[in-house]
Amino acid sequence: MSSQAVKIGICGLGTVGSGAFNVLRRNADVISARAQSPVEIAHVGARRDNPACELGDVKVSRDIFEVARDPQVQVLVELIGGTTVAKELVEEAVRNGKHVVTANKALIAEFGNELFALAEAHNVVIRYEAAVAGGIPIIKALREGLAGNRIEWLAGIINGTGNFILSEMREKGREFADVLAEAQALGYAEADPTFDVEGIDAAHKLVILASLAFGMPLQFSSVYTEGITQLTPQDVEYAEELGYRIKHLGVAKLSDAGVELRVHPTLIPEARLLANVNGVKNAVLVEGDAVGPTLYYGAGAGAEPTASAVVADVVDLARELSAGQSCRVPALGFASDSLQNLPIVAMEQVVTPWYLRMIAEDKPGVLSRVASIFSEEGISIEALIQKAPAEGETRVPLIVLTNRALQGSMDKAVSAIEALDSISGEVARIRVEVLDG
Ligand code: HSE
Repeated sequence: MSSQAVKIGICGLGTVGSGAFNVLRRNADVISARAQSPVEIAHVGARRDNPACELGDVKVSRDIFEVARDPQVQVLVELIGGTTVAKELVEEAVRNGKHVVTANKALIAEFGNELFALAEAHNVVIRYEAAVAGGIPIIKALREGLAGNRIEWLAGIINGTGNFILSEMREKGREFADVLAEAQALGYAEADPTFDVEGIDAAHKLVILASLAFGMPLQFSSVYTEGITQLTPQDVEYAEELGYRIKHLGVAKLSDAGVELRVHPTLIPEARLLANVNGVKNAVLVEGDAVGPTLYYGAGAGAEPTASAVVADVVDLARELSAGQSCRVPALGFASDSLQNLPIVAMEQVVTPWYLRMIAEDKPGVLSRVASIFSEEGISIEALIQKAPAEGETRVPLIVLTNRALQGSMDKAVSAIEALDSISGEVARIRVEVLDG
């Protein structure tokens, strides 16, 4: 154990910043034992203090760039979020020879390729365990624990806010807006909560996971993204009648055609573990050719769970610095000259079963017309529920569960169904994930 402290600088004292500060202080003994040297918070950069943490005599700068220029600081912890100032800060730190730890998924997903190249050129590393799934060590699992596997697919509940909202709506019948406000108050939601409910936050995380799983550059713009704002309490209820739960998933799947990268609501059979991940919890299911399916579960957001992942990266870097480690795991798990340019599969080519809900006239011939449209597109029906009409109503909800179908065929079938006089409005549709590959 070295007696010389590794000096870190923390930029940002929001939910995660204050959490990281407190965990580093509270667990200083185990952290230094694991890092093989004391870890000292040498400099904090924050526009304002946070009453959640007692800074004591730590040096504080209101200009966060002073931390990136401080010659004492060896590891800069970026916890300010966003992709403008945060990017400049990380670049400045890297150019000044500092390692970086960040929880910033948007920054890594959108600018990771160039930032990793810059870091490699300056012989420093950027670590980002906290960027995906909060406290779950999924980055380490993919980069190190599963390094002997070809990863075939992964599917995860990777937005805590969205899962919290869906769980509260299902279990307590609460309103969407009311649960979102609570998630914001608890510090789970992004600064712009549309990132959570429109699936952007999950898409950021999915692209990071896929890059690690398949050894490909980060391609955020290629992710198909659908949020949870269109889901209705009726869909939640009908899904349950059919034996499913609705979850918002990120799915990355490798096939001969390329990589599927998609974020959207899904029906999951209720017996699956993922279907039973509730509240702010996240879970990622990873299928490797050698290990088979593995599941990683834990808190996906919140101050200390996310700080747990930040501090794990700090400990890794402190250990490297104190032991002079030079053979590092590369940023995306694969050596940078071995990254693969895999094609992204177009959504029309993606095959899944489907849940559909439509409003139909309650009269003879409607069902057979709908069924014949499915048959013309080669889509087979797995289950069908027709609800009784409400008092004085001539229209009924019709819920259809199909077998696996190409999205392109389903698009055509849905357009043809929506064009029928006996069908009102749009057909609601949600993909089903059976999670068996
Ligand atoms: N807003 C994110 C979530 C925080 O709800 O999952 C963690 O990345």
